[in-house]
Amino acid sequence: MNKDLLTIQADRPDIITSEIEAIHFYRKMDTKATVEEMIAGKYVLVEEYYSNGLEVLSELKKKLLRKYKDKSFQGQRDYRSAFREASHRLLLKVKDNKLLVKKAPTIGWLELLYTDVSEFYVSFPDVQGMNSSWQWYQKGIEVKTLDIKLHPFYGTYFPTRFDHLKLFDKWLKKYEGSKQQVIEIGVGSGVLSFQLIQNGFENIFATDTNKNAIIGVAQESKRLGYEENIRLNHGDLFENCDIKADLIVFNPPWLLAKHKLEEGIDKAIYFEEELFPRFFEEALKHLNPEGKIVLIFSNLAQVVDEESTHPIIEELRNNNRFRKELHLRRDVRASSKRTKRTDSRENEKVELWVLAPKK
Ligand SMILES: C[S@@+](CC[C@H](N)C(=O)[O-])C[C@H]1O[C@@H](n2cnc3c(N)ncnc32)[C@H](O)[C@@H]1O
Repeated sequence: MNKDLLTIQADRPDIITSEIEAIHFYRKMDTKATVEEMIAGKYVLVEEYYSNGLEVLSELKKKLLRKYKDKSFQGQRDYRSAFREASHRLLLKVKDNKLLVKKAPTIGWLELLYTDVSEFYVSFPDVQGMNSSWQWYQKGIEVKTLDIKLHPFYGTYFPTRFDHLKLFDKWLKKYEGSKQQVIEIGVGSGVLSFQLIQNGFENIFATDTNKNAIIGVAQESKRLGYEENIRLNHGDLFENCDIKADLIVFNPPWLLAKHKLEEGIDKAIYFEEELFPRFFEEALKHLNPEGKIVLIFSNLAQVVDEESTHPIIEELRNNNRFRKELHLRRDVRASSKRTKRTDSRENEKVELWVLAPKK
């Protein structure tokens, strides 16, 4: 592992370590009045039972839904932003890195992400986020194409549907080129790098802008015995990348952002306009003469909005840098066989693109 990675600090929810002035919320208190105070800017500290916090949040939701009736995209966005702001004033106390209230879930992240502090306040929604992440981390996600379970680190994107992994697996099994050197941009939970290693690829330079992804993949590579094969880097696209590769693999975010991106999961889902042009320009410099780019993508943006452009097709059309060598598509299946798809995602397809530099 790169030496700098030993000092990398995980992103974690903000906490309050000083004493605060807050309304102490006990069962049977007036929830409506408490919620009014929260909306007006006061902190509320959940006392006694974890479920008391759930009660306050549910009242807050009701109250804001009555206020934000506009069902348009912007109206819903305003509602979410108001909910986000007020709900983060609902706090829980942590002592000895555990939640102090009764019947609260045990969340290992309160210890693992906060080794420097043991007593603090943290917002209820952040606790809910950590709780759900902790359950995934502990239970693991079974990935059939890998025959292993992944344990995704807090704040890291991980696959919940597997069609794109099957497509990648199918392509890997047929690949006949050099397996010496790969660059994976946006390693996330490590799933594609692990598929590459299991298919005989030797050296992978794997990078991500999300620090937690890098910490998580470092742990997972160690657990799975893949440390020798993978060199991790925290950075934007090809930042710090000093090699040329036989393959550059990227499963990028699939939707064009219409908002300012936040660090973390947001950047796994949405991309800024400049991401693809920057990627293609840099990729060209990091490919061996016979090298190829493998991109995993989806028509999701087109399914949602027919007018939206496809950044890979745009690249092929507008620039004279790459030629399309292969384009595979596969239907995205519903998460459960029993749920019949009625949503717009029923036309969704995942895509695998192989591009080679023009000579
Ligand atoms: C859709 S996720 C894919 C993760 C994983 N490779 C997989 O297939 O499940 C996209 C990943 O790209 C990362 N990413 C987004 N923009 C990036 C950039 N400019 N440079 C490096 N990584 C980036 C995100 O943080 C995220 O981990």
